[in-house]
Amino acid sequence: MNQVVFITGASSGIGHALAQELAPKGIALALAARRTDLLDSLCENVRQSGGEATALTCDVGDQAQVKQAIADTVARFGRIDLAILSAGIGGPTNAADFKTEKFQRLLQTNLLGVAFCLEELLPLMRQQGGGTIAAISSLAGDRGFPGSAGYCATKAALSTLFDGLRAELKALGVNLVTIEPGYVLTPMTESFGKMPFMMQADEAARLILQRLERGDRVIRFPFAASAFMKLMRILPVSLFDRIAAKRRPIKVN
Ligand SMILES: NC(=O)c1ccc[n+]([C@@H]2O[C@H](COP(=O)([O-])OP(=O)(O)OC[C@H]3O[C@@H](n4cnc5c(N)ncnc54)[C@H](OP(=O)(O)O)[C@@H]3O)[C@@H](O)[C@H]2O)c1
Repeated sequence: MNQVVFITGASSGIGHALAQELAPKGIALALAARRTDLLDSLCENVRQSGGEATALTCDVGDQAQVKQAIADTVARFGRIDLAILSAGIGGPTNAADFKTEKFQRLLQTNLLGVAFCLEELLPLMRQQGGGTIAAISSLAGDRGFPGSAGYCATKAALSTLFDGLRAELKALGVNLVTIEPGYVLTPMTESFGKMPFMMQADEAARLILQRLERGDRVIRFPFAASAFMKLMRILPVSLFDRIAAKRRPIKVN
């Protein structure tokens, strides 16, 4: 039986690159995002590489749409062996004029979007005898950075959520994997200018798939950025605040 992989955020960036990498491997792909036109052309590419794919128009911030997308995947392919939850949004947090509305959008997509998927995927995977759920968090979750505190908070919460659920779910046959990339060049980051330790999306996708195959539970990369963020995490608050005060917030168009 072919493996079935469900990917959210498949219309662009890392999710799109993951689908392209998986296309020639004889895997059935269920590709979800809001922009159906982009998913349709990705499905066409997958078919041209000899793979099988279906496009699922789905806003992950809407629980009913997530439920429907996962039900449609099961109706089409019968099961989901691996779910890669890549859907996410970025965007600056204006500290001086903090607005909940902006933060709510980040939470709805980056955190609740994953929770809605978990609610559908966990019973399904338990019933089918196992599976893997990999969510794309970020090294940015290691510490709140000026300019993107809201985004960092959603990723910190996501990594912590997976940390807390992982052992319990392993005992029930479901593997949770947290993916924490540094900067990857995608439409989300292309307006940032020069990024330290930046990777290309296809390179990041290959690395993620290799480490998933190896059975890693937390996938952090690249090494230098991961080490830097671990250091940031243990810095005392007085020192961290001095560094943060000098840091120029990333400019996002
Ligand atoms: N690029 C980086 O440097 C970097 C670093 C660390 C972590 N990440 C994380 O990696 C993931 C992918 O980011 P990316 O860089 O590939 O960004 P991207 O190119 O902007 O892609 C984001 C994807 O998420 C989808 N998406 C956004 N909101 C959605 C919603 N409400 N419902 C369904 N799909 C939604 C988008 O599709 P539609 O617009 O078609 O819905 C798109 O396919 C994100 O979770 C991001 O936080 C990125």
